[in-house]
Amino acid sequence: MTDHSPHGRRRSRALPGFRRAAVLGAGLAVAAAGTLTALSGTASAASTLHAAAAEKGRYFGTAIAAGRMGESDYMATLNREFGSLTAENEMKWDALEPSRNSFTFATADRIADHARSRGMALRGHTLVWHSQLPGWVAGLSAGDLRSAMNNHINRVMGHYKGRVHSWDVVNEAFADGSSGARRSESPFQQKLGNGYIEEAFRTARAADPAAKLCYNDYNTDNWNHAKTQAVYAMVKDFKARGVPIDCVGFQAHFNSGNPVPANYHTTLQNFADLGVDVQLTELDIAGSGTSQAEQYRGVVQACLAVSRCTGITVWGVTDKYSWRSSDTPLLFDGSYRKKPAYDAVLAALGGTGDGGTTTGGTTGGTGGTGGGGTASCTVTYEQTDRWGDRFNGRVTVRAGDSPLGGWSTTVTVTPPQKISATWNGSPTWDSSGNVMTMRSNGTLQAGASTSFGFTVMANGNWSAPRIGPCTAS
Ligand code: G3I
Repeated sequence: MTDHSPHGRRRSRALPGFRRAAVLGAGLAVAAAGTLTALSGTASAASTLHAAAAEKGRYFGTAIAAGRMGESDYMATLNREFGSLTAENEMKWDALEPSRNSFTFATADRIADHARSRGMALRGHTLVWHSQLPGWVAGLSAGDLRSAMNNHINRVMGHYKGRVHSWDVVNEAFADGSSGARRSESPFQQKLGNGYIEEAFRTARAADPAAKLCYNDYNTDNWNHAKTQAVYAMVKDFKARGVPIDCVGFQAHFNSGNPVPANYHTTLQNFADLGVDVQLTELDIAGSGTSQAEQYRGVVQACLAVSRCTGITVWGVTDKYSWRSSDTPLLFDGSYRKKPAYDAVLAALGGTGDGGTTTGGTTGGTGGTGGGGTASCTVTYEQTDRWGDRFNGRVTVRAGDSPLGGWSTTVTVTPPQKISATWNGSPTWDSSGNVMTMRSNGTLQAGASTSFGFTVMANGNWSAPRIGPCTAS
């Protein structure tokens, strides 16, 4: 199968606001214009999803719920790991235009502003969808619905012009099952007929010519499914007739009824061969453990194998808030611990984690980097044991590209927690007894690592200690 889209074309497209700072540690930056740029300096291996994906020329994003933005662990995880945000519900029609031509952008703006302040990219979801429509849409005549649809696209895309890298212009327009038909319960389908989709795309192109325009759907992963074929035929027709479409979003909600198909790569590649980008837009996979991890690995590998697969978005940060409330389909568990699925995704992206799943704590993970000149180090934390009233933690200190003459880092526990024992190091303490500093004057070769351990008396608080940053000397 030939891929007609060289990386050069993909990278030349702008990703508005794409995150720069967080990629610096990976030795690459995505500049404002969206081009990948090698940086000199103290590069370290990518240890987050976003940084690892950026090294592969992809974005790695998450759906975000505005109502969770006050939760510190939620935001810490989101800010550390993800480079692109999609509003889970806040940019839908009922949220943005609850009354006709009366727009309420404030909540969605909080998400857009957060993305901008953090240098993250923003996906737009979604402009025309039969679901989550405000009540007033149902009563419109065909003529009024047409003008309301175009007005909605113009106003929303106008408001976020230049800030959204890809818009889901039309969402879920095809029926499930074997018919390959359009979704009959959609009021757009009922009143405007088949032409509403291309009309929406033409309106969208004019509203924000820089945004990529996507058709987005679910259960379109298996190449042999009628729905997949129907969407493929529509995209092929659009490309042949010059209807403006740039990308196809594969929601990628997988479970036992819709498993990751063996032909997933074929599906993505065949769409890409039509001359559109493909994006995994709402990825989540039911289950847990190794089985879930291997499915995630396969999905990421399928995307990486298609040069026009430009990015992956998971549908939520943590299992705690997944829309699949009785399942555990995401990369972080309910306590924000990295799951085996996380490790598999990071490894598939070529990143390097801390050598295993973090088994405890709510704020564990990779600490900061520091040091002067070219010397640098990173710290990673993992909980290695938990029993009775205490747990053990291990911090691994790794030298960057240059040898270290010494290093120091801190471990901060949350009262009433207390560190009761340490090994492989001689700590000092601050006056509160909550901040332990571990320091070494021993040399550490470039890329080499060392570790120390400690026991925390939980006293009812099982959150992970805060680690770092690491300071090189
Ligand atoms: O915020 C209200 C709350 O005030 C109220 O008390 C509560 C009572 O039901 O509802 C809350 O709103 C819910 C909202 O999620 C926020 O949690 C809605 O009822 C609920 O319908 C809504 O579900 C969303 C669903 O789309 C709606 O179709 C999910 O969060 C969201 O994850 C899901 O996302 C969709 C994509 O947009 C399209 N693809 C499928 C995907 C999963 O269904």
